[in-house]
Amino acid sequence: MQKYKQFNTPLDNSSRVIQMHKGLIKKIIEDIRNELAFDHYKALRENSIGHGFFHSFEVLKIALEIAKEFKRAEEVNFDYEVIIAGAILHDISYVAAEENVRFTSISKAIGQGENHHIDSAKIAGKILEQSGMSREKIEKTQHAIKSHRGKGREPEAQTPEAKIISDADTFVGATSIKTHIAIVNQLKDKIAFFDPTVSTPERIESLKVKQKKKKKSDMFMIRLNSFILDRDPDKYYTKCAQKLISCANSTDKIKSDFRKIVDSRKDLNEETKKKIYFEFDKIIQEIKILPEFRYLTDCGTKNATDSA
Ligand SMILES: [Fe+2]
Ligand SMILES: [Fe+2]
Repeated sequence: MQKYKQFNTPLDNSSRVIQMHKGLIKKIIEDIRNELAFDHYKALRENSIGHGFFHSFEVLKIALEIAKEFKRAEEVNFDYEVIIAGAILHDISYVAAEENVRFTSISKAIGQGENHHIDSAKIAGKILEQSGMSREKIEKTQHAIKSHRGKGREPEAQTPEAKIISDADTFVGATSIKTHIAIVNQLKDKIAFFDPTVSTPERIESLKVKQKKKKKSDMFMIRLNSFILDRDPDKYYTKCAQKLISCANSTDKIKSDFRKIVDSRKDLNEETKKKIYFEFDKIIQEIKILPEFRYLTDCGTKNATDSA
């Protein structure tokens, strides 16, 4: 039998809820392993595609935080099993597809961002049936997965579990250290994008063209977009998540990291560097207000004119 590399999740094992539901978590992981081809399960464990177990467990951790507060403040009852299953499986379609769970090539399976909420719900249904979950709970989990892409996007979350998972995923996208590191790494290749001689409309236009071509490099703008836009408390359903995001780090850190990258460039003179800093600050402000950028959160597959 092939050995799997150990993966580190940000989940705190001492959490009472985690302890209580350890059996379910283990079973779901086991059933994912049984359903998926080896390479895809490996990709999940090693987080090599960006939507691996690290991300799911980060979402689960925040979801449990929100759930705790949600219960206390709003006295609403919800099902922890649905939250756990929903968080673990909400992005599962990035490594699998409903029609054929056992893909033979990982490259075939990834890049299905536009419908990943729908596909993930279908795959989750199959996996949770294996796990022996009741039909009612599976349907609740599927609703939570379908509506996990954030407040304001269809279908909207209707249940407390769905609202909690959606808020947790949005929060993780806006604050995750992994997103931050990915943005900072990609910034190195993106200095040209902040070239002060290019006007803002031209820059937006160039992005639209790139998006239509579905160039992989534009993950940078997608990440930067959620990193900035998803700091708006109105993007969250629950009061707890609104409070959490208001206290989260601001975008200052990303600005100072960008400055360090530009500073280290020997080929740029001081004047150009200053202009680039200015352009970067401006684009961060602009992203907040320009509707043109909102389409980027649709994982780069939607046309800019469809955005709202
Ligand atoms: Fe997602
Ligand atoms: Fe996610």
